[in-house]
Amino acid sequence: MKIACFVEAYNFDALISERNALLEFKSTAEAMGHTFEFIFKEDITRIQEYDSLFIRATTDPNNSAYIISRLAEQAGLKVIDDPHSIRICSNKAILHDLFLKNNIPSPKSLLFTGDYSRESLDNIFNTLGSPVIIKTPYTRFSSHVEKASNETEFIEISKRFLRKSKILILQEYIQSDFDWRVGILQNKVLYLCKYCFPGGGWKVKSKINGKNKWGDTIPVPRECISSELKEISINLSKCVGDGLYGLDVKETKDGYKVIEINDNPSIYHGYEDTVDKDIYEKIINALVS
Ligand SMILES: Nc1ncnc2c1ncn2[C@@H]1O[C@H](COP(=O)(O)OP(=O)(O)O)[C@@H](O)[C@H]1O
Ligand SMILES: [Mg+2]
Repeated sequence: MKIACFVEAYNFDALISERNALLEFKSTAEAMGHTFEFIFKEDITRIQEYDSLFIRATTDPNNSAYIISRLAEQAGLKVIDDPHSIRICSNKAILHDLFLKNNIPSPKSLLFTGDYSRESLDNIFNTLGSPVIIKTPYTRFSSHVEKASNETEFIEISKRFLRKSKILILQEYIQSDFDWRVGILQNKVLYLCKYCFPGGGWKVKSKINGKNKWGDTIPVPRECISSELKEISINLSKCVGDGLYGLDVKETKDGYKVIEINDNPSIYHGYEDTVDKDIYEKIINALVS
């Protein structure tokens, strides 16, 4: 089979661990008897020459990755990430609705469009408690996720975010020392990691003394997943599709709380792939099946 892997220059340039993971995909596919070519946006018009498409560039309905995903699907290719998964996962307001409708345990959430009346502000803090988490629908890599401990901070952060987006997501703050990252492929657990927070931070990527820092990744064998986390994760992935997903989940004394489901989850060599080493092979198999 001919597999196209859609990338952008940053997938190779930013992190050596990402570049090495891409090369691992290629050598695994070739060892399995397939061809695996990296393609760029210039190649978008020849997508029908391939049998399947694997997208590693950032997906977002505004990006070329989404366009190529749609074109490939229309041309009959097997596609990961498929356009439907990209649309659902890219927007946190849509996810919030999906969680509610499917009884997925998740933080209490409200949508906010800029009503600063006394009644509205009281309702926010009475419903969500303090601090309140504020997010834009399209945040990635923790870029537009902030915490407001009081009304003054809430007004400052939300006004700043409303310049980026007309609708914000507000959530109760869920305390934890790390995020579970559950990698899912074809509605089965593919890998499991703990994404830790850098010292003093509360997000996987936090600003510490003015500098962006990432926390450690601790891989955990996938068979060690608790039955409850597995059930929640698979129930949720089935609500989106049968592609490749990365879920962020917090473990609390009141059970698990799902923060989000991502399409296009990060796979870095020496991180997500260190204990379950067959993840490349399983993804290639999903692309050619
Ligand atoms: N309600 C919440 N309570 C506590 N931490 C949160 C909450 N929502 C998000 N976070 C933390 O913020 C970070 C980014 O949030 P997330 O919703 O996953 O957005 P992104 O798409 O930018 O990764 C994650 O590390 C997550 O654990
Ligand atoms: Mg996240």
